[in-house]
Amino acid sequence: MPNKVDFNKDYPSIKKSDEYYKVALDLIPAQTQTLAKGTGQNIKGVAPKYLKRGKGSHVWDVDGNEYIDYTMGVGPLSLGYAYDKVDKAIKEQLKDGITFSLTHPLEVEVAELIHQVVPNAESIRYSKGGADVVSGAVRLSRAYTGRKKVLCCGYHGWHDWYISVTDRNKGIPQEIQDMTFTFNYNDIQSVIDSIDTDTACVVLEPYVFEEPKDNFLQKLRDVCTKNGTLLIFDEMWTGFRIAVGGAQEYFGVNADLACFSKAVANGMPISILTGKKEIMKLLEKDVFFFNTFGGEALSLAAVIATVKEIKDKNVPAYLAKQGKKLKDGYNQIAKELEMPYTKCIGYECRSLMTFDASAGNPLEMKSLVQQEMIKRGILWGGFHNMSFSHSDKDVEYTLKAYKDVLPILKKAVSEKNVRGYLKGEPVEPVFRKVSNFNTKPKKK
Ligand SMILES: Cc1ncc(COP(=O)(O)O)c(C=O)c1O
Repeated sequence: MPNKVDFNKDYPSIKKSDEYYKVALDLIPAQTQTLAKGTGQNIKGVAPKYLKRGKGSHVWDVDGNEYIDYTMGVGPLSLGYAYDKVDKAIKEQLKDGITFSLTHPLEVEVAELIHQVVPNAESIRYSKGGADVVSGAVRLSRAYTGRKKVLCCGYHGWHDWYISVTDRNKGIPQEIQDMTFTFNYNDIQSVIDSIDTDTACVVLEPYVFEEPKDNFLQKLRDVCTKNGTLLIFDEMWTGFRIAVGGAQEYFGVNADLACFSKAVANGMPISILTGKKEIMKLLEKDVFFFNTFGGEALSLAAVIATVKEIKDKNVPAYLAKQGKKLKDGYNQIAKELEMPYTKCIGYECRSLMTFDASAGNPLEMKSLVQQEMIKRGILWGGFHNMSFSHSDKDVEYTLKAYKDVLPILKKAVSEKNVRGYLKGEPVEPVFRKVSNFNTKPKKK
């Protein structure tokens, strides 16, 4: 019998997952299209590898095991799996067609909606993935300023200009690598030290888990303005989640360009580039930003249904409310158990569990918690990516599971034998580090 969301006797059977994986090993390099969904982020031998179905906050793997999901498609499922209103909008549009030979009216309707809810969205364009729109924004900033250099902080997708600063930079010419540099979040001096008259833009996620301190975002805005550099917000995670209008609304700081994807269409593939008309007008002709599927109508229909629901139901407030219960609950349990080495940090809509190296190998500790959460029917990657479908029942059950699981970690840590408790190889470090993601500071 497959496992349920329950205190199951055994770890789930993942036989079918392993069968698919065996075939993928031979056919699909890296076996995944999204690094964060790959086996490196999941304990071997225990975690399922393939999901087949989702409803609300629950998912079922190919072996039929059920879980509460806290990864939520690595961001897009802001409302929840198979969310009726969004699915209905997609099905209605499907009857009329997906991609057309001329522009579709939904392109206009979505633009009007985004213009209404996102600050500074004076002009709007679409593409398919997050990297597309951030790269579009970077190209625009170079065209607008006539400069070359980019300063960034965080993760911005797979394109050359960004990935060149990481250690996965094979295939990118040195000349490209020489144009992007990184700065430290909450360290305005690292920006001041690096910015110069050739800096076209500063691009960042307005926050990842750490809160902006000492007016960091406004200071960044001021430094950019003073230097004639554009400020670009990469709102893949903050957009439609921290506030309906994203980080610009939440922090009251204006970016020149802001990029969205993930949460905006509840799982449909679309990304949105927004910004000041004066800059965006370069997209009329000078800056080329066109592709076949940018106006694909199912995703646009999903945007309308998703954004309306996020706005009408004040989804950001709900995510914060449910996320707070989990974050506070986790920290309370860890405190009562006297486990100062693990914490839940970040904004409530998306929080992260940390494990301190003073108590042992953090990746092994994370793997043990993951292994035991999976046994209890919770698909857990060390994050609470909240959705509108995470119910009180889900949250209460999850806290009950933490109460059962954290003592196991405590025992393993006190015996200095976390590894001995693991049923398989531990998880690997996340590529998208959350702090000190600063591999190439300051131009020499
Ligand atoms: C902050 C941020 N920017 C850009 C991207 C790239 O988006 P995509 O993978 O859709 O190209 C991601 C993806 O995780 C992201 O989290």
